Amino acid sequence: MKEAAKRVAQRLRDASSVMIISHIDADGISSGSIASYALDHIGIENKIRFVKKLDEALISELEAENPELVWFTDLGSGYLELLGGLDVVITDHHVPSEPDEAEEEPGEEKAAVTSARKTLFDFSEPAAKKEAKSYADSDILQVNPHLIGRDGSTDISGAGTAYLVARELASELKWLASIAIVGAVGDLQDRREGKLTGSNREILEDAIESGAMEAVMDIGLYGRETRPLYKLIQYASEPELKGLSGNYRACMRFLMGLDIDLKAGERWRSWADLTRMEQRHLFSALSQYVPKEELLAEIYLFPNEKVGTPLHEAKEFATLLNSCGRYGKAELAFEVCKGDRGLALDQAFNLQGGHKKYLVESMKVIKEIGIETMDNIQFVHVGDRIMDSVIGIVAGMILGSGSISKDKPLFAFAEADDGIKVSGRSTDELAGRGVDLSELMGRVTKEIGGIGGGHNVAAGATIESGKEQDFLLLADRIVGEMLDS
Ligand code: C5P
Ligand code: ZN
Repeated sequence: MKEAAKRVAQRLRDASSVMIISHIDADGISSGSIASYALDHIGIENKIRFVKKLDEALISELEAENPELVWFTDLGSGYLELLGGLDVVITDHHVPSEPDEAEEEPGEEKAAVTSARKTLFDFSEPAAKKEAKSYADSDILQVNPHLIGRDGSTDISGAGTAYLVARELASELKWLASIAIVGAVGDLQDRREGKLTGSNREILEDAIESGAMEAVMDIGLYGRETRPLYKLIQYASEPELKGLSGNYRACMRFLMGLDIDLKAGERWRSWADLTRMEQRHLFSALSQYVPKEELLAEIYLFPNEKVGTPLHEAKEFATLLNSCGRYGKAELAFEVCKGDRGLALDQAFNLQGGHKKYLVESMKVIKEIGIETMDNIQFVHVGDRIMDSVIGIVAGMILGSGSISKDKPLFAFAEADDGIKVSGRSTDELAGRGVDLSELMGRVTKEIGGIGGGHNVAAGATIESGKEQDFLLLADRIVGEMLDS
């Protein structure tokens, strides 16, 4: 990817202004911030726009604006066939479009198809690479782990790919690697092994070397900085603490028995507020419920940020970014990533408070509506009761909550401005057995219309209203086929 990053960097350096388009989630916001910070640093004028998704409407708008160069971060690779009319570079980790699929597009899209195909082979096959050079200007340059056969859901995030380019633009910007780590954990890339692996590890080294980040082995439960201790335990889902998770009274009883002050004055204490001794004591008490190894994870800290705030730990940092993005305020989070610790940060904290309440309410809505089951999948349709920008998070929370079966992927439908948003969530176990939701979204939308993509365990699509039943029948069949083959 280094070679690809160099080429993208060169292309950016040659431009006098760049339009950055990024995704509204934590990884997208981190990506966009890295891109913009690096361009600012080397004096290239840039603007940023955060979008929920890339589609034809957005492309038409961009074509009308006719920017000199567009830098797509954390999106783009899945939609190469749409990008023919624009000058673009892409740093992304989503599954790239299949050239064969694109080939079936009619007439005028041929030009884009050629460039998509060429790009796909560009960095993976030396022979094609040579040929690609002669097309220089019409190429879509991409940094994407899939192009070198790596897994985009664990090896590197959108922010990581943007960072590889930022580092080529200005080698002194190594601290931006710490923002790339926020993007990676925001996309749950550390989940499978309890730590970041692959290219993410190299990026982590840069982050640590710059002094902006530390990696420590510590309790892996989410919320170590800001959650009151009882919530840290009550909401624990990875790993689940049998007998404690989900049970407020049991958690309180457990904590009361430990001789640890749960409050400092009026304020609930969090894990980060505890002394080392108290942490050790609580940890060993918790290890009665789940093996120590499962309780431990590698944690990524920002030593220069205030302890006990979301900015001190990468996962909570990512949640803060997500809360802004999902409510149409990605720009606030963007300012926070680029260093604003004043007004933007205050507003971001405010939004986060609202986000937490919204998620709790949304979980109730789903429980009320109920999950329906088919042969190979399960689904829920929430109508307009949950925002389309949040439905993916809620679907992930429901599947991870232990309150429904994890044997089948879950699809959640919500009304959106431009049709029906579907969010699909699955598990590593199902992925290991061949279920790939990104491929599924591609196949289904090809059949019934709409646009979709993502990763094997988390993917989304927008389809026409009224096509939900068709979607479900197809998805059910495809998952069945994937499990059989
Ligand atoms: O929106 P949701 O959280 O369900 O998206 C899951 C994943 O699928 C994200 O990585 C998102 O970028 C991707 N996605 C996509 N195309 C869509 C919708 C989602 O690539 N139309
Ligand atoms: Zn991402």
